[in-house]
Amino acid sequence: MLTMLPRCVLTLCHVLVLVLCLSAAEDFDWTKNDRGSFYYGSFPTGFSWGAGSSAYQTEGAWDKDGKGISIWDVFSHKKGKVAFNDTGDSSCDGYYKVKEDIALMKDLKLNHYRFSISWPRIIPTGIKSDHINERGLKYYDNLIDLLLENKITPIVTLYHWDLPQVLQEKYGGWQNISMVNYFNDYANLCFERFGNRVKYWITFNNPWSIAVEGYETGEHAPGLRLKGTGAYRAAHNMIKAHAKVWHTYDTQWRNKQKGFIGISLSGDWGEPVDLTNQKDIEAAERYVQFYLGWFATPLFHGDYPQVMKDYIGRKSAQQGLGSSRLPTFSPQEKSYIKGTCDFLGIGHFTTRYITQKNFPANRGNSYFTDRDLAELVDPRWPDPGSEWLYSVPWGFRRLLNFVKTQYGNPMIYITENGVSEKMMCTELCDDWRIQYYKDYINEMLKAIKDGVNVKGYTAWSLLDKFEWDEGYSERFGLYYVDFRNKNKPRYPKASVHYYKRIISSNGFPNQREVESWKRKATETCSSSNQLLAAGQYSSAQAFRLCLCVSDPLTSHMEMVTEIVVPTVCTLCILLSAVFLMFLLRRRN
Ligand SMILES: *[C@@H]1O[C@H](CO)[C@@H](O)[C@H](O)[C@H]1NC(C)=O
Ligand SMILES: *[C@@H]1O[C@H](CO)[C@@H](O)[C@H](O)[C@H]1NC(C)=O
Repeated sequence: MLTMLPRCVLTLCHVLVLVLCLSAAEDFDWTKNDRGSFYYGSFPTGFSWGAGSSAYQTEGAWDKDGKGISIWDVFSHKKGKVAFNDTGDSSCDGYYKVKEDIALMKDLKLNHYRFSISWPRIIPTGIKSDHINERGLKYYDNLIDLLLENKITPIVTLYHWDLPQVLQEKYGGWQNISMVNYFNDYANLCFERFGNRVKYWITFNNPWSIAVEGYETGEHAPGLRLKGTGAYRAAHNMIKAHAKVWHTYDTQWRNKQKGFIGISLSGDWGEPVDLTNQKDIEAAERYVQFYLGWFATPLFHGDYPQVMKDYIGRKSAQQGLGSSRLPTFSPQEKSYIKGTCDFLGIGHFTTRYITQKNFPANRGNSYFTDRDLAELVDPRWPDPGSEWLYSVPWGFRRLLNFVKTQYGNPMIYITENGVSEKMMCTELCDDWRIQYYKDYINEMLKAIKDGVNVKGYTAWSLLDKFEWDEGYSERFGLYYVDFRNKNKPRYPKASVHYYKRIISSNGFPNQREVESWKRKATETCSSSNQLLAAGQYSSAQAFRLCLCVSDPLTSHMEMVTEIVVPTVCTLCILLSAVFLMFLLRRRN
């Protein structure tokens, strides 16, 4: 933990590298992090407000109306892969609740809704020439039409992790170059059938996670652990697939349909532990380059970040391999891939402090050790939900400014941003989520004032939903979903009311008003809370299960580890010394 780093070492470094840091990165200024205070003001006119979801996480109906099986159907049906052995078999039953959910979006006054198409729902084996499932296409036709009738722009993701299982079994999924053509055929079908109405396409959602968690750690489907090679190969094929789909659209559809093809990259921000330490700055930059840069750099500049090529190449050589574990692009591929992003989607949730740490090459290889760095968190950062999700709003502005300087100020849509709550909480008064949205959206506003070209924002997510390997134990929704009730009713959390105010004001007008939003939002939620409680339990006394939101407890525990433990240790040593002296004296 950060606070455990010896202060004196930090101070020493301050002095030592003060000179070095003057030559730090020219374009993005790593050495200054001016956070400033809360900024009252509005977003540019036409700024698009939205919320998001994905097919496997919300649709349910996993085997209905001719849908094929995806790798997530198979993965979640295996015992021990997902918390509580949960599956997405029915999830929110979104497949049957299109009208109901669009009414929720309308109530929020959303400008756009981001959802994904399930590839095996429309092409059951994943291979277009095998069979096209018209009933699946009809479901998305209807969803798109209803959105447009309600003046909500659809932003459509083609691949949100649910690869047709046949492609996994036959070819090894994204390990295999043949995915490029199958994915292109599928994308082409989507352009053909939906492109007259859909103008914003996202090829991949968070390819980092697909590669690292699907093919390196195995925490996600398909659950492979191909350490140090699998993630790089999967990423390589996804980048090629993205480029191919962009070219398909560009040559065959753009003239007629006039839409945009982007990708949604996730990136945590990495902040140097010590802003005056060049080693920390370089480690932090590596963290960001291995994360967001892994995908963004090829798409904007034609090749992988130089640090990735250097580090993985050097370690591969030390391991006696004939070539780098990071695949290479040919010159033709580089120019084919470069410039294939009409807009950049960014999913962002949290930040880490980064410091340099060497991992010797002979201790096996993995994506994580290739980076030669360590991640730290500040125990004072709020951590209301998922274990990894610390609220660090200023990291969002830093990341956006980094993207602006690195990739030539591209058009950006925030495709995911939000926070979860722990366990089976039935708490609708989610003031920590209000705080998270307020602060993160405000940092995005500051980034826009810095000149970053952000066109829209997507709150993640509209509903509580299947949270991958965490099952239903983590809830990201603006709306609470009662999964134990077979009708899967939705209830607004307080953050719904708050987000609605931000949308209708297109920003934060002034302190007095913004403060009144929070008051009003929390007033409405306590009555909804009781409604939910009445629906869920026969006795109302159980309705605040959510005392499990354990801020005071965890901060107490951190205090224990940080202050009490060292103090107790010191005391013990002192006492033993006294005792020893006492013993020695008696001997004499
Ligand atoms: C999941 O299933 C496995 C195998 O049936 C079982 O051993 C395990 O206890 C289950 N886990 C939970 C949380 O129910
Ligand atoms: C790709 O799939 C083909 C056909 O199944 C197979 O022959 C080939 O070995 C696969 N390549 C990789 C890298 O898995």
